[in-house]
Amino acid sequence: MSPRRRTALLALLCAGCSNDWRTDMWYQPSVRAEDAPRPEPERSVPLGAGPAYESRDDTEALVNPVPPSPEVLERGRAIFLSRCSPCHGREGHGGGPVSKFFPPAPDLAYATVRARSDGFLWGTITFGGRAMPPQREGLTARDRWALVDYVRAIQGRSPSR
Ligand code: HEC
Repeated sequence: MSPRRRTALLALLCAGCSNDWRTDMWYQPSVRAEDAPRPEPERSVPLGAGPAYESRDDTEALVNPVPPSPEVLERGRAIFLSRCSPCHGREGHGGGPVSKFFPPAPDLAYATVRARSDGFLWGTITFGGRAMPPQREGLTARDRWALVDYVRAIQGRSPSR
């Protein structure tokens, strides 16, 4: 093909090409980093959603689904030591260091606490009490049942009052 014909052919191919010739993938219909997320479709339910409880009154009648196996009690003990003992004391009988400048946390073996349902204890851990702050952050529902089992173990170890 002579150079002249090649130029003519190229000119012909390009004629009418008003398209964007950029070939990188930046210019495309896509979701960019930090774009606002798409709103959820109406009536959609988040993955892993459970019943929406709002206070410990809603959870009072729940039945503990996590039996107190040695592993569960060990998990409960570990969380108790890190999250609850600053207020309720290492043994759970009150007098933790935070109780010196916060409404004192009670002995968890008190008769009133023994008489609570498992669901009420789970609700207290989840939503807090009158003074106790909610403890659900970072804990799964199962972790909180493990704590209920551990509180029952504390009560079992101490003489009834
Ligand atoms: C910041 C201090 C604080 C922390 C942390 C805390 N509590 Fe409490 N807790 C309290 C106080 C104060 C009360 C008593 C007043 C109330 O009901 O809020 C209480 C009450 C309770 C009760 C008795 C509720 C009732 O009315 O029968 C239970 C059970 C309990 N806490 C368990 C826990 C467990 C389990 C944890 C750890 C996950 C925990 N608490 C962490 C301060 C604390």
